Amino acid sequence: MPVIAIDGPAAAGKGTLSRRIAENYGFHHLDTGLTYRACAKALLDAGLPLDDERQAAEMALKVDLSGLDRSVLSAHAIGEAASKIAVMPSVRSALVEAQRAFSKRAPGAVLDGRDIGTVVCPDAAVKLYVTASAEVRAKRRFDEIVAGGGEAEFEAVLADVIKRDERDMNRADSPLKPADDAHLIDTTEMGIEAAFQAAKRLIDAVL
Ligand code: DC
Repeated sequence: MPVIAIDGPAAAGKGTLSRRIAENYGFHHLDTGLTYRACAKALLDAGLPLDDERQAAEMALKVDLSGLDRSVLSAHAIGEAASKIAVMPSVRSALVEAQRAFSKRAPGAVLDGRDIGTVVCPDAAVKLYVTASAEVRAKRRFDEIVAGGGEAEFEAVLADVIKRDERDMNRADSPLKPADDAHLIDTTEMGIEAAFQAAKRLIDAVL
């Protein structure tokens, strides 16, 4: 079954792009960040610590891929907690196994995250690495918060994006980086439609 692997830092636009691609080709879509978020939320809800790898890995084995809902998992604190437990190898191996099983679904699957092209699906038919400058990503996050009726300070959101990048790119196990054979899509000055057209050209050439 064809797999489209989409990686990149937070708020680069990979979620929107992945959904669009999955819809266009009639493929299943898994936002793998939600698997880390679901595990983190379950730990927080149970009042368990975020720095106990054994308990976190046990929780990771229980994550149900069919019950993932971004609206329940979008809170900032859950994203932070997810990024913390994502450094633990036994948490990653439990979630990666579930993600690999998902990637085999017919007629094809789009997975987005940080390590899809490098670790989860190294044989993916097409690998995309979607990125944008930290300022542009922070601005998108900031606009989202404000549009949702929330309050935020741009400088704080930017500092947060930079901190999250650092943690995701510098961890020892499966750090965020483009696979050697990934195609780079920089959305700093590109709208979602242009990014989709670029991705579609690459995918159509292979499928
Ligand atoms: O994309 P997101 O913000 O929902 O991801 C939350 C955290 O989960 C992110 O900071 C790092 C981690 N993550 C990961 O390590 N590997 C993935 N494939 C997806 C997310």
